[in-house]
Amino acid sequence: MNATTHAIALHDIRKAFGATVAVDGASFAIDRGSVHALLGENGAGKSTVVKLLSGLMLPDSGKITIDGAEARLDSARAAHRHGIQTAFQEMTLARDLTVLENILLSHAPVNALGLVEWGKAKARVAAHFDALGLTDIDLRDEIRDLDLAVKQKIEIARALYRDPKILLLDEPTSSLSGRDVDWLGEIIARERDRGVTVVFISHRLHEVRAFCDHMTVLRNGQHIATARVSEVPDAEVIKMIVGRSIGQAFPPKPAEKRAHGNVVLSARDVTAGRARNITFDLHAGEILGIAGLQGMGQLSLFLSCFGMAEIEKGHIEVDGHPVVMTTPADAISAAIGISMMPEDRKTEALFLKLSGKHNASIPVISRFSRMGLIDGKKETEAVSEVFRRVEVDERALWTRAGAFSGGNQQKIALAKWLLAESRALLLYDPTRGIDVGTKHEIYQLMRSFAEAGGAVLFYSTEIPELVHLADRVLVLYQGAIVDQVEDDRLDEETIVQATLGGHAPSIAGQAA
Ligand SMILES: Nc1ncnc2c1ncn2[C@@H]1O[C@H](COP(=O)(O)OP(=O)(O)O)[C@@H](O)[C@H]1O
Ligand SMILES: [Mg+2]
Repeated sequence: MNATTHAIALHDIRKAFGATVAVDGASFAIDRGSVHALLGENGAGKSTVVKLLSGLMLPDSGKITIDGAEARLDSARAAHRHGIQTAFQEMTLARDLTVLENILLSHAPVNALGLVEWGKAKARVAAHFDALGLTDIDLRDEIRDLDLAVKQKIEIARALYRDPKILLLDEPTSSLSGRDVDWLGEIIARERDRGVTVVFISHRLHEVRAFCDHMTVLRNGQHIATARVSEVPDAEVIKMIVGRSIGQAFPPKPAEKRAHGNVVLSARDVTAGRARNITFDLHAGEILGIAGLQGMGQLSLFLSCFGMAEIEKGHIEVDGHPVVMTTPADAISAAIGISMMPEDRKTEALFLKLSGKHNASIPVISRFSRMGLIDGKKETEAVSEVFRRVEVDERALWTRAGAFSGGNQQKIALAKWLLAESRALLLYDPTRGIDVGTKHEIYQLMRSFAEAGGAVLFYSTEIPELVHLADRVLVLYQGAIVDQVEDDRLDEETIVQATLGGHAPSIAGQAA
């Protein structure tokens, strides 16, 4: 191979954090002008590679070459000088600044006196957003008010604004769905056509196939393979990622459709936020799927079942009795027993600065206290028991939750609700952005929770998950339920069609 065709090459790179070897002697190269997927389970070392290439940290040993010449990437500035721009997985936008300010941070046009020329800057950014098709984003909005998908698109737009030669995208699609993923696919193709080299991290193989020409698999920080995407079938890719073949990704559904238990949770003509006139019954032992393109009311629906959204009309019932929940604490309380894993789990489901143990025991801490004192031993035993069930490492008991990968954070969040002995779990896209191995474990946990009589309300952006896990699926379109898909209609095509409003044209035709 001719080294000068490589935009980037890693040569025997090693990076450890204390005892954790995040990147373990990895060597591989990325061709100039290619779209290169970086694959691996959570914790495989992908983000560490991205951070090394972005100048956020230096390797312990080994070297990085760019266009064939050794590069010392010891600061973000150094990476920028080499034309490297990154949309980070944890998203690095400043919450308290506007969209415009975030794009311009350190890249604002200044006049001869060193003052930012705001008028010019704003026009330039607006033109950039237009060219990207992001016309619905208001540059004056503060980041904190925006939802995850919008923030992700801004993170990407910012990297593009700085005109990269090499664009690093760390799991951008784990917070995007449907149309936004297509949007990103077009952006990537456009950048490639302009000669930009793109590194794309995703857990979704169909995206890798659609967007990328090459791929590299990492496992436990080690380089497993680099190949042309077209040369490796899915089963082989998965095997390289997990280091074994996983037979069936989804646990089998119960052989016979069982009669479900009592109704645990019902919505009666609920209108809240974007959700319109929603009525359903969720039974004990049932996994009830919710499908919908982004912004079709699913979030409002989940929040209103969890005391987090004001219900304008209608009501929620628990065990057939109307309940008023004005806070999540009401929903969690023993009498009701509803738990939720929300959209932005990094900021909402866990206290990142607290240990895994404290996170898990917070909702039920009274169970471990006597006369105002907490029985730490009892608490630890109970939490380690659920951590074993969700297969989270014991270290999580004492380590702050923020130090764990997305997949492990998600399992800690689940452990918390198992410990609380919730009767109904509201799972809002629970596997978003987590690796295949951990996904599989979460599917198993959902299934066993339902088999033990728990009720699950389950929204997913990944339609195959709904098909393989849910007993039936309610499809939302413009805030309303437009279809109930079950039995022999329960397949991807039917659901996708319904999410596009295809099943009920009369409803699809109405204005929002
Ligand atoms: N700043 C850090 N401090 C301690 N450990 C870290 C840090 N960053 C990453 N790790 C650990 O390094 C390993 C690789 O992490 P990462 O590169 O984020 O993986 P991936 O992006 O593939 O999920 C994981 O075990 C992770 O917990
Ligand atoms: Mg990562």
